[in-house]
Amino acid sequence: MSYPFQIKSIEQYHAAYKKSVADPEGFWGEVAGSFYWRKRWDKVLDWNFKDPDIKWFSGGKLNITENCLDRHLGTLGNKPAIIWESNDPDEHHRVLTYRDLYQKVVQFANVLKNNGVKKGDRVCIYMGMVPELAIAVLATARIGAVHSVIFGGFSAQSIADRLQDAQSEFIVTCDGAYRGNKDIPLKSVIDDALVQCRFVKKVVVLTRTRIPVSMIKGRDLWWEDEIKKVETMGNPDCPAEEMNAEDPLFILYTSGSTGKPKGVVHTCGGYMVYTTYSFVNVFQYNPGDIHFCTADIGWITGHSYIVYGPLCAGATSVLFEGVPTWPDAGRFWDIVDKYKVNVLYTAPTAIRSLMSYGLGPVHSHDLSSLKVLGSVGEPINEEAWHWYDENIGKGKCPIVDTWWQTETGGILISNLAGVTPSKASYATWPLPGIQPVLVDESGNELEGNGVSGNLCIKFPWPSIIRTTYNDHERCRTNYFATYPGMYFTGDGCLRDESGYYRITGRVDDVLNVSGHRIGTAEVENAINMHAGVIESAVVGYPHDIKGQGIYVYVIYGNTHGDENLTRQDIAQTVSRIIGPIARPDKIQFVSGLPKTRSGKIMRRILRKIAEGEIDNIGDTSALLDPSVVEEIKKGRL
Ligand code: PRX
Repeated sequence: MSYPFQIKSIEQYHAAYKKSVADPEGFWGEVAGSFYWRKRWDKVLDWNFKDPDIKWFSGGKLNITENCLDRHLGTLGNKPAIIWESNDPDEHHRVLTYRDLYQKVVQFANVLKNNGVKKGDRVCIYMGMVPELAIAVLATARIGAVHSVIFGGFSAQSIADRLQDAQSEFIVTCDGAYRGNKDIPLKSVIDDALVQCRFVKKVVVLTRTRIPVSMIKGRDLWWEDEIKKVETMGNPDCPAEEMNAEDPLFILYTSGSTGKPKGVVHTCGGYMVYTTYSFVNVFQYNPGDIHFCTADIGWITGHSYIVYGPLCAGATSVLFEGVPTWPDAGRFWDIVDKYKVNVLYTAPTAIRSLMSYGLGPVHSHDLSSLKVLGSVGEPINEEAWHWYDENIGKGKCPIVDTWWQTETGGILISNLAGVTPSKASYATWPLPGIQPVLVDESGNELEGNGVSGNLCIKFPWPSIIRTTYNDHERCRTNYFATYPGMYFTGDGCLRDESGYYRITGRVDDVLNVSGHRIGTAEVENAINMHAGVIESAVVGYPHDIKGQGIYVYVIYGNTHGDENLTRQDIAQTVSRIIGPIARPDKIQFVSGLPKTRSGKIMRRILRKIAEGEIDNIGDTSALLDPSVVEEIKKGRL
């Protein structure tokens, strides 16, 4: 397979960039031309950022799974699409060729249809990292339903919130999931969530861990039994549903600065075009390369760079069930060696964690197949960047530092491996088609180099967020109203003297813990549910491995009893309400919080204290009671 839109030299990069700005419709029309459309689009782009109303490839008809599967069958049918590596290194791996994957997707699409799932219905998928997760995602897309994948680490309450918001009547899950030395009882978590969600009609359960589960008559079905039914029907075909380019493909929930996660909606045509375009260009994917993205499909990185981007490009994608450090810290290197991985795409938090185990686990494996290394999810510090470069890439693999977001659908700012220059801890240049701008607090564009500001994008790209599910106004106010006429990312950014972009982190109340986005308000809401908590404030602080840790200040009602037990209890409450990813690292009991006279908590001060900058907390004269600051400083953990 060849990729007519692949940029192979720096001259081509500059030419493509120039064209993408001068003639965006011509540029994207050409890129989109290399996909399979049932009907070509009438208009490449219609847009305004005011409402916002953004339409790419209007009038175009397609099904993304025909691009991921059907069109490869002739040429790549026997090539591996997915290589699955179990959590347990001794369990045999699985290889699904494009033909195998196609057949399994068609089968499961028929299971969904047999159970009443129709075009436009929302299907919630809550599974571990098994091939059936990718199969469920693609089967949902094949029949034109909308998937909403929920990461296996979210709690019953988080699932219930998402099911309610999306009104998902169908769920696909597993009995349990393996992650390192843990067995996570997924079905039982779903059962707890469904106590509040009586509208759910069907739950399909895949057997993975064989942990005992309870099945509700009429509602819960075994995956394996449903597949058998399709087999007894003679394995009928399941022609892909014809979708409009702007029909929704999926919803993915992500945290913002308010307490409630928002359902980011991506649509079929633009998302397909952009994820494939960015996959091929950023990683400089060549046919036959083995691509290993270590993310979970429950996050956008897995959607775009394990499933859709690689499969549309006819690539071989490694899907790993486990974690980097179990049974030992050589797990990634073992996989690289075993499958001769060419592209490794992971997160700075994983790199930092592996660094702490020293080089023993690295040196016992042959990593010579690696050609490209990628980083995603949070700023990569220089130390981690150099460790990755020297010890994993052996100084010969370009590192792509890819900046993007759930809302952007694909990578927007990154070097193109080996084609454009890299610079430690810089995402460097925008991809052709992406027009970043830096603005000051009042929204004035900061021109020239050597400036820092808030990062916005001033022109749409095909996989930009279209709406937040069921609440378009929220999409407008969150992303398009702060700086009228621009998409606001929520990130701070520096453009250095040479024009390279470096993302400096969130400028809103969103934390980035181990590459996971968590809203401070969301964590506060969870903490405040604890009966003893009167008030709380959550901020981030620098953490050696996680990037940011969660620091909590709590005013607690009953001061008797063991403080450590109370801390554990509060942390447990957060795990139960949101999930273990939001578990606080530090909990400090305080008698008051620094508030302005109008009652607003001054987080700037709390952040400084948590960061350890206690001599540099700035002006406290606006506080109602400045003495509270001294007490908080003294009690700092
Ligand atoms: O702050 C940025 C950070 O992660 C945020 C997006 O999080 P999420 O939607 O969960 O998507 C993560 C995977 C794409 C951004 O607003 N971020 C992501 N990539 C980078 C990054 N920060 C710095 N450098 C990156 N390469």
